[in-house]
Amino acid sequence: MLVNTIELVQEARRRGVAIGAFNTYNLELTRAIVVAAEKLGQPIILQLGVQAIRAGGEPLAMATLAAARVARVPVAVHLDHCSDIGLIETCFAWGLSSALADGSRQPFAENMAFTKRAVELAARYGETIESELGYLAGTEDGITVEEIESSLTDPAQAHEFIAATGSAMLAVSIGNVHGYVPNPPPLDFERLAQIVAQVDVPLILHGASGISREDIQQAIHMGIAKLNINTEVRTAFLRAIASWGVRIGPEPDLRQKGQDLLDLMQEAMAAAQGVVEQTIRTCTFL
Ligand code: 13P
Repeated sequence: MLVNTIELVQEARRRGVAIGAFNTYNLELTRAIVVAAEKLGQPIILQLGVQAIRAGGEPLAMATLAAARVARVPVAVHLDHCSDIGLIETCFAWGLSSALADGSRQPFAENMAFTKRAVELAARYGETIESELGYLAGTEDGITVEEIESSLTDPAQAHEFIAATGSAMLAVSIGNVHGYVPNPPPLDFERLAQIVAQVDVPLILHGASGISREDIQQAIHMGIAKLNINTEVRTAFLRAIASWGVRIGPEPDLRQKGQDLLDLMQEAMAAAQGVVEQTIRTCTFL
């Protein structure tokens, strides 16, 4: 059943768990994520990044919304990291219920002004905005940010930012990193505690790939209510395709069992589903 993101995030916060937010790029990945959620009887968020939308356009958004509508658990559809106000509006018009209006690489005042504009736009559609203060190192959506350029969320600024923008959810930068990086820095739980003391909107942790179950659960205990994960799921999907290719060789024989397109997709989906299940268990302490 298709529901609003903010409902799921608020409900997760009340339950003392986090809602898993999984990036998707195609129908197979979407189905794998939804099937994992149905198996565990837990709600989830499907998120589309800007590159996925640029590649798949309205048909991808419609397929994602359709998968959410027919799911046997509550599912919301969210636009991940977007600094293009026009695309945010397009996604609301398509029926997505939330967007990360990402002004995090801009100076504080510009980020505030951009986020406020996005919040006003979302209100016209009855939808919600996640915002981001401080930005993460690592690679996402084809953009790499070196560690030296990253910046951590300033708790005092977080208070001012939320009060001024009216953003319903805040993504924090506390040492979390997008994608896999060698020797990831430890999470700054002290900073997270200070942010929690300063703002009363649900907090979001990006870059969950590579963070231990213990650290994720500690962050949830402290107030993280939405957990974004992409690389681990995508990598599982890609690895399954790669090993299928090695096993089958360069010339699939369509008369042979296991060598057709649906066989390949089944293997990739099963691999992604396994990672999604594991993540949902971590988020919900199952
Ligand atoms: P990872 O790719 O590190 O899991 O991060 C995903 C994310 O934060 C999506 O917004």
